[in-house]
Amino acid sequence: MTMAARIIAQRGSLLSRSAVPRCTAAYLTQTSSLAQLSQPPQLPAVRLCTRSQTRNLTSTAASNGIVADKMQRLANTLAENFGGPVTKLGSHQFKLDDTPDLTGKVGVITGGSEGIGFGAAYTFLKHNISKLYIISISSEIIEGAKKVIAEELGEDKAERVKWLQCDLSDWSRVKEVAEIIKRENDRLDILVNNSGRGIMSADLTSYGVDRHMAVNHMGHVILTSHLLPLMQKTAEEGNIVRISNQASNLHTAAPSDTKFESLEEINRDVGPNGQYGRSKLAAILYSRYFNRNVTQNGHPSVLMNATHPGFVSTKQSRKDILEPYPLGGLAMKYGMEPLKKDQFEGAVPTVWCATMTKDSGQYICAPCIPEAGSEMSQSDELADRLMELTRDIIAEKTRMDSVERGCPMDDIVVH
Ligand SMILES: NC(=O)c1ccc[n+]([C@@H]2O[C@H](COP(=O)([O-])OP(=O)(O)OC[C@H]3O[C@@H](n4cnc5c(N)ncnc54)[C@H](OP(=O)(O)O)[C@@H]3O)[C@@H](O)[C@H]2O)c1
Repeated sequence: MTMAARIIAQRGSLLSRSAVPRCTAAYLTQTSSLAQLSQPPQLPAVRLCTRSQTRNLTSTAASNGIVADKMQRLANTLAENFGGPVTKLGSHQFKLDDTPDLTGKVGVITGGSEGIGFGAAYTFLKHNISKLYIISISSEIIEGAKKVIAEELGEDKAERVKWLQCDLSDWSRVKEVAEIIKRENDRLDILVNNSGRGIMSADLTSYGVDRHMAVNHMGHVILTSHLLPLMQKTAEEGNIVRISNQASNLHTAAPSDTKFESLEEINRDVGPNGQYGRSKLAAILYSRYFNRNVTQNGHPSVLMNATHPGFVSTKQSRKDILEPYPLGGLAMKYGMEPLKKDQFEGAVPTVWCATMTKDSGQYICAPCIPEAGSEMSQSDELADRLMELTRDIIAEKTRMDSVERGCPMDDIVVH
């Protein structure tokens, strides 16, 4: 029995506990799937009731509602994080096969050569995207990816992939790459900011900035900012433009005293989980900020959302985790492997946000469940401070080769 199947079996025994209120137990036996529990239990119609009967019925209905709600939340947690059959338990469903036809559209994805990004890139190509830029580091990995695409989807699809080599910590190169994309295209429909440094030790880039923040957040802000005029033009021509940022439920691991007030603060080593969590908190805050300052401020068809792909079997969760945790990481590498989503399951919320959603500023967990995220992730004040600090750091660190030439942050300040 797989671990996923075991979870379902455990869930079954949980549901049959006699402690579950009678009405709910009856309701549960009528439902074949936990996903149906999002509907409150149906109570028999009552015509004439005494006041106390009414009170009892109301409180029974309320407690049934609470139990159903709790069960759905449990079901969502399983669907959001783990792979296999439990993904079907989520209250919101989307399958990669339901991706719309993308003929005529142009997309950009960072880290589309492997892992979750490859799952998304493969899906866009399968659904006929006309051109897809993949931004990543290793030529070997992208060659391997293109080979798989050619073998499985045909040579024509592999030729639609344009690879641009770029390390997102090299902000001048990020700008160059954005300029190439703008020169070569008169539209841009999809931008997926997916590349990321995983749960790893603290490190500084050549600019002297925390590598997690520099790659996962700031590199993507520079890319998005430079591409924004092209995306706004595409939207003004009657299209919906969608930007998807790869966040994580581990944004909750950001230190509770995170304020995004200074470079010194973000360069403080807060441990592998804290480093990673803080950069993922930034991905959600950026989406909320963008919604307020771009989508809701004159560009209603340029959308940005953040995603949590779940616990996915990729290089990050099999190899990178061993860097900070040589022993403990083995549990995640081997012990948790049967529970993980595969790279295609992990790509589902990204593909949803890049091709389907009509909303902006949301935090979408796999498969496509809107979640509130942590309290910090909902703070407009924190988002404003993050973006102000982002602008200051990028301006200071790249002044010579960038700001004086009219970039990088000029075109994101739309408020
Ligand atoms: N795996 C999970 O369980 C999980 C959970 C939550 C969130 N996420 C997030 O999902 C995203 C994808 O992760 P993954 O698990 O699919 O990882 P992965 O398999 O290691 O793939 C990472 C991709 O990002 C590229 N990349 C890494 N560092 C880069 C940099 N500095 N500049 C440009 N590209 C870079 C890599 O390119 P090269 O191959 O050329 O180096 C690769 O294509 C990340 O943001 C990650 O934090 C993952």
